[in-house]
Amino acid sequence: MYPLRRNRRLRTNTAIRDMVRETSLHPEHLMAPLFIVEGKQVKEEIASMPGYYRYSLDLLEGEIRSLYQLGIRSVLLFVKVPDNLKDNKGTEALNPDGLMQRAVKTVKNIQPEMHVLTDVALDPYSSYGHDGIVENGLILNDPTVEVLAQMAVSHAKAGADMVAPSDMMDGRILAMRSALEQEGFTDTGIMSYSAKYASAFYGPFRDALDSAPGFGDKKTYQMDPANRIEAIKETIMDIEEGADIVMVKPGLCYLDIVREIKDAVDVPVAVYQVSGEYAMLKAAAEKGWLDHDAVMMEQTMAIRRAGGDIIATYFAKDIAKILQNT
Ligand code: PBG
Repeated sequence: MYPLRRNRRLRTNTAIRDMVRETSLHPEHLMAPLFIVEGKQVKEEIASMPGYYRYSLDLLEGEIRSLYQLGIRSVLLFVKVPDNLKDNKGTEALNPDGLMQRAVKTVKNIQPEMHVLTDVALDPYSSYGHDGIVENGLILNDPTVEVLAQMAVSHAKAGADMVAPSDMMDGRILAMRSALEQEGFTDTGIMSYSAKYASAFYGPFRDALDSAPGFGDKKTYQMDPANRIEAIKETIMDIEEGADIVMVKPGLCYLDIVREIKDAVDVPVAVYQVSGEYAMLKAAAEKGWLDHDAVMMEQTMAIRRAGGDIIATYFAKDIAKILQNT
């Protein structure tokens, strides 16, 4: 009872604030997405993601070394596939010498201790820009899942530590887990994008990979932003099917979902702070309307506080730099 309890006493100075802080943030909590392109000496800035680049394999070394030196221990690989290699079935996704497979080997060569996760979904490979095989304007579930399972095995063969299915087809986790087991990849993990919403925040990412859907939208497979209970159902099913880590995506608008899932499950929960979230802060900071670093750190801490064990974020390097200097 006031004045016996004066809450401000615990906020008097840095020492006491540091002592009673409830949430921690360290570089090991961060996962850095990387966009990879064919070619040599390519480092292209993504127009809608200022300060974020696509790299060719020969320029990855500097980036991987600097991430590792900053304490970041995991990267999430995405590839931009040339148009002439795209088709409806994602044939190129299974090429043992494809860009993703070479990217995994390249990163592992540069830094074997870096945990390498690969994106598993058809959209970068699809002539329709969809995450599944298309027939008569519909996205087919089961034939897509078969390809995804083979993709997971192909990434595991290349040396991926974990595969990260971002497609939202039904049953893909079980199919991938079974295929990996069958091929002897018992230690290859699965980080499932289990509660992935049909969000308008993915726009800049689709620019980065040139992977926007050619027709329609992704609402028949990604979740309705209005739904909460469904997120729990999706997540629990993925865990039952064999997911090692589950994910909520996007981040900031969905922190209520993050907390509910964190309370409901016993596996680590990852949160993807997506491209649109990155773009919004960059734009506001460019205009001088927001303090970039302060808002970035506040947002990241909020994701941790909501229950995000791991955060995939385009700010990973910037955050780690600040953590290193404080
Ligand atoms: C597609 C995929 C998307 C993202 C990751 N994997 C976009 C989409 O579903 O259309 C978005 C990531 C971001 O916006 O940062 N499988």
